[in-house]
Amino acid sequence: MTGRLDGRVALVTGAGQGIGRAVALRFAREGACVAALDIDGATAERTAGELGGRSLAVRADVADSAAIDAAVHEVERTLGPVDVLANIGGVYGRHAPIREQTLENWQRVLDVNLTGGFICAKRVLRGMVDRRWGRIINVSSGHALGGRPNVSPYTASKMAVIGFTKALALEVARSNVTVNAIMPGITDTAMPRMYASEERLRAQGEQNPMGRIGRPEDIANAMAFLASEDGGYITGQTIAVNGGIRELP
Ligand SMILES: NC(=O)c1ccc[n+]([C@@H]2O[C@H](COP(=O)([O-])OP(=O)(O)OC[C@H]3O[C@@H](n4cnc5c(N)ncnc54)[C@H](O)[C@@H]3O)[C@@H](O)[C@H]2O)c1
Repeated sequence: MTGRLDGRVALVTGAGQGIGRAVALRFAREGACVAALDIDGATAERTAGELGGRSLAVRADVADSAAIDAAVHEVERTLGPVDVLANIGGVYGRHAPIREQTLENWQRVLDVNLTGGFICAKRVLRGMVDRRWGRIINVSSGHALGGRPNVSPYTASKMAVIGFTKALALEVARSNVTVNAIMPGITDTAMPRMYASEERLRAQGEQNPMGRIGRPEDIANAMAFLASEDGGYITGQTIAVNGGIRELP
């Protein structure tokens, strides 16, 4: 059977669990050789063990430029040059009003969610441009457009991801490299459980136009499309995968 990503090498950050894991599994099912990168090496190993085929687990912090440089070097040596980068690793940070937010938390959330994507993209971009083929997919959040109280660092970081996506997309469009963002609504992973009870998540599902919250596989479906040839003329876009919720800027 042929897959949409046959012959491609994909680097998926945050692949240890949740959305990143689902994307890594889906990319592998589509024929890609997948590097599962996470700050948690044990979960990265676990995901890589599920992938089969040619895959690799890499432990690295996306906010650490030297670590990402070494990690990508290892991916290139083991699997080949990176064709698809899915910037998924992220943190929610402290859920607290701004008077209780610390500069340290603000900085870390921005470092991981925004600067991490920049570091990974910068590292793989030159190869993509040289080979005139590449896909970079970032992850924003419904929080970005709607805004949420008590989570200003996360909300700011996810809005900034949209700006970064647009700017980079225009820069590299002539090189046949696309850059897009997925904007998930609440998705069934560990992350929303940091601020919402099971009961609240159920209620959110009931309020959703489609009657449920998202599944990690919903995000993986959209990412597989963007990563494939079929997504080749889509760039600079932020695509909501949220069951039809309208998040207004
Ligand atoms: N789940 C949701 O409701 C939701 C909604 C909108 C956006 N998102 C975004 O989707 C992405 C994935 O979230 P998730 O729901 O799967 O969360 P999750 O917490 O289940 O998974 C996040 C993964 O990222 C990894 N990670 C964290 N910091 C890292 C770092 N510095 N370097 C490398 N890896 C790191 C974690 O170890 C973990 O494996 C995040 O960017 C998140 O902001 C999630």
